[in-house]
Amino acid sequence: MKILVIGSGGREHAIAWRISKSPKVRGIFCAPGNAGISEIAECVDIAADDLQALVKFAKDNSIDLTVVGPETALCRGIVDLFESQNLKIFGPGKSAARLEGSKLFAKEAMERFSIPTAKYRVFTDAQYQDALNYISGIKKYPIVIKADGLAAGKGVIIAKSKNEAEAAVKDILVDKVFASSGEKIIIEECLEGEEASILAVCDGENFLLLPHSQDHKRAFDNDQGPNTGGMGAYSPAPVVKDDILNKINKAIIKPLLDGLKSEGNIYRGILYAGLMITKEGPKVLEFNVRFGDPETQAILPRIKTDLIDVMFASIEGRLREVKLEIDSRFCVNVVLASGGYPGNYEKGKEIFGLDEAVKMPDVIVFHAATSKENGKIVTNGGRVLGVTGLGNTIKEAIAKTYQAVDKINFEGMHYRKDIGRKAVN
Ligand code: AMP
Ligand code: GLY
Repeated sequence: MKILVIGSGGREHAIAWRISKSPKVRGIFCAPGNAGISEIAECVDIAADDLQALVKFAKDNSIDLTVVGPETALCRGIVDLFESQNLKIFGPGKSAARLEGSKLFAKEAMERFSIPTAKYRVFTDAQYQDALNYISGIKKYPIVIKADGLAAGKGVIIAKSKNEAEAAVKDILVDKVFASSGEKIIIEECLEGEEASILAVCDGENFLLLPHSQDHKRAFDNDQGPNTGGMGAYSPAPVVKDDILNKINKAIIKPLLDGLKSEGNIYRGILYAGLMITKEGPKVLEFNVRFGDPETQAILPRIKTDLIDVMFASIEGRLREVKLEIDSRFCVNVVLASGGYPGNYEKGKEIFGLDEAVKMPDVIVFHAATSKENGKIVTNGGRVLGVTGLGNTIKEAIAKTYQAVDKINFEGMHYRKDIGRKAVN
C-alpha cells in the first residue's frame, strides 16, 4: 500500500513512524514533511492546505490511503474532495469538521445533545457594545474569551480582570486580530480542574478510545508563561480514572456522535475532546477533528495494533471488528523549542546529538520543525523536536526521556523540565 501523510510537524512524524511499522505499507509520502520524516518517507513539496495539488498528487501516484494531520485542510473539505474522486482518506468531512472550525457550532451541538461544557454567551462584531455591557456585569474572574473560528491555537484568552476582558473583546471584534475568525466571540466561564485529552477513532456509528493523555500548554515549568502549541505530553493520564472514563464515553463521545448522526452528520476519523476534569466530572473545553500535537507523540508509541487496519476500519464503518492492543507502559514526550518560542525566534540553528539520542533503547525522537542544509539538520520553526521515551513506570519514562534530551542541543534550545510530574504526584 502507498500512504500519503499531510503535514510537517511532530504529530505527522509520529503518524508516519507508526504507519512505517505496518507490513502492509510499501511506501509513505509526506506533504510537505520535515528532515526527520524524510528518513522514513518521501517528502513532497506541497503545502498541507493546497487541496487541489494534494488530490492531484494522490491520483497521479495511486495513493491507497491519505492521513491528514492539521485541521485547516479538514475544515476546508479535503475529505469531501478526495471522496468525490474515489480516493480513501482518513478524517471527517467538512460539515463535521465544523466541530473544530467553529467554536460556536461545537457549543451549540453540545447544548443540543446535553454534553457537559462551560456556560457561555455569544456576541457578533455588531454586538461589541453588548459584549462590553455583559462584561460589566461579571463579578467573578478569570473568564474565558474565544474567537469563533480557527486561530492556530491562539484564539483563547483567559482574562484575569475586567480590563483584560475588555481588551480581548476589542482585539477580536473590533481590531480583528484573528481576521474573519473573530467575527463572533464566545465568553465563557472558566472551568477549574485538571486537563486531559481524549482521542476517539470513529466510523460514523462506533468508536474506540485511544489511550488518554495530558498536554502541557504553557511555555514554562509549573504551568507558567504564555500558551503554546503544547510543550510536552504523557500517556496514560492518571487523572482519567475509570469512572471518569466511563462518563466521557457515555456523556460526551457517544451522545455527540449519535446526535450528529441523527442530523445527517456522519463523523469519521479522529475526534479529539479537550476536557477539564472538574469536581462535577469531565467537561468539554473544545473539540478538535484530528490527532493532537504533541499528544499523538505520546499515544502512538503505545498502540500495538496496525494503525492502517484501524484507519481503514474507520473509513469503511467496520470499527466494531477492531480491538486495540495497547502497550501498558508509560510514554512521555518532551518538546524542545527554539529560543524565544512562542514569541519570536530564529531558525537555521544546527542541531547536535541526535545520533546519540536515537540510539537509546525505548527512545524515539520525533522531528517537529527541522530541515536539512548542506547535510546538517537545522531548526526550522518554534517547536523543533519531540523526544519520546517509554518506561514501566511514569518515573522511569520521565527519566529515560530526559536522559535523551540531555544528549541533544542547539543554540537557544528551551524545554520544560516538569513534563509528567503531575502524573507522579
Ligand atoms: P482551546 O483552544 O479551546 O483548547 O483552549 C486552549 C486552552 O485554553 C485549553 O487547553 C485550556 O487550557 C484553556 N481553556 C479553554 N477554555 C477554558 C475554560 N472554559 N476554562 C478554563 N480553561 C479554558
Ligand atoms: N495539543 C493540542 C492540540 O493539538 O490542539
